[in-house]
Amino acid sequence: MALILALESSCDDSAAALVTSDRQILAQAVVGQNEAHRPFGGVVPEIAARAHVEILPGLVRQVLAEANVAAGEVDAIAATAGPGLIGGVMVGLMAGKGLALALGKPLVAVNHLEGHALSPRLVDPGLDFPYLLLLASGGHCQLLEVRGVGDYRRLATTIDDAAGEAFDKAAKLLGLGYPGGPAVEALAAQGDAGAVPLPRPLLGSPEPHFSFAGLKAAVQRAKASGEHADADIAASFQQAVVDCFVDRTARALRASAAPTLVVAGGVAANRVVRTALADLAAREGRGFSVPPGWLCTDNAAMIGWAGAERFAAGLTDPLGAAARARWPLDEGAEKVRGAGVKA
Ligand code: KG4
Ligand code: ZN
Repeated sequence: MALILALESSCDDSAAALVTSDRQILAQAVVGQNEAHRPFGGVVPEIAARAHVEILPGLVRQVLAEANVAAGEVDAIAATAGPGLIGGVMVGLMAGKGLALALGKPLVAVNHLEGHALSPRLVDPGLDFPYLLLLASGGHCQLLEVRGVGDYRRLATTIDDAAGEAFDKAAKLLGLGYPGGPAVEALAAQGDAGAVPLPRPLLGSPEPHFSFAGLKAAVQRAKASGEHADADIAASFQQAVVDCFVDRTARALRASAAPTLVVAGGVAANRVVRTALADLAAREGRGFSVPPGWLCTDNAAMIGWAGAERFAAGLTDPLGAAARARWPLDEGAEKVRGAGVKA
């Protein structure tokens, strides 16, 4: 049994956790920075990085105390090394390196996306490789075949906005503030998902990818028209995203032999998203796994678990490991139009 001390700081959540290789979370803590960023309607990178400097050390002390573990008892330090806002990544990774150096323990430099990708295995011991993963977060919207630790094949990505980014922008247009996802979900529960006709970009397209920019523009027009209740716009927007998820994921499932569909990332905390994808998996005769909501949004338990999986596979990193703003899970994936490539 290995004991991993984990740090997460890639966006606006500071987090620490103590996780074991036999799936116990001995302690974990997440401190969001919503109040600090709210006046700006989105995450301000420098404010986030400065907040991580102030918050992270206390969280490390807190999880060790809560679990009644001495720092010297941990087997490895796992820290997010990217992708994300580079200032925050540098703060957390450097803190991890300092701990590894001082304690004489190995460092595991974790890809934040691998944290999301493996998170379902922390709570679902029966979930074996391979599985088809819909990873929908604030920065990403991808379909990946997860073949093993460190072994990913990207089947689809977004050609413009990420799904969580679309939720955040819709929320801003509706005056709901940041972060948008939970606020849109709550308002949508009071609205009619069929009330506002909104586009479903790339629905039925032979190309495998996602697109959400046109949907955002349509939400803007619906709001400006003054013809619709905000709750109806929120519900119709959420349904449009869900329809795109289901259509694109169904296409990928039919091309994949993976026995299980998995959804992870912040947007997977959304109940309408979870239900629609569970239904899809059932229709397609596949298993289904989604982590609990607290494990979908950013946290350090998933970094600790990815760290435990990598540590078990002998994958530790030198203290010179780089902090990376961009770090795709599938380095060999083709660039798509929208990512600096013209169609
Ligand atoms: O995975 P995550 O916490 O951070 C990133 O790695 O990006 O994802 C954050 C994103 C935000 O865009 C947030 O609005 C969205 O996930 N989100 C949701 C919900 N909870 C968080 N979107 C829709 N419904 C939710 N309940
Ligand atoms: Zn994330």
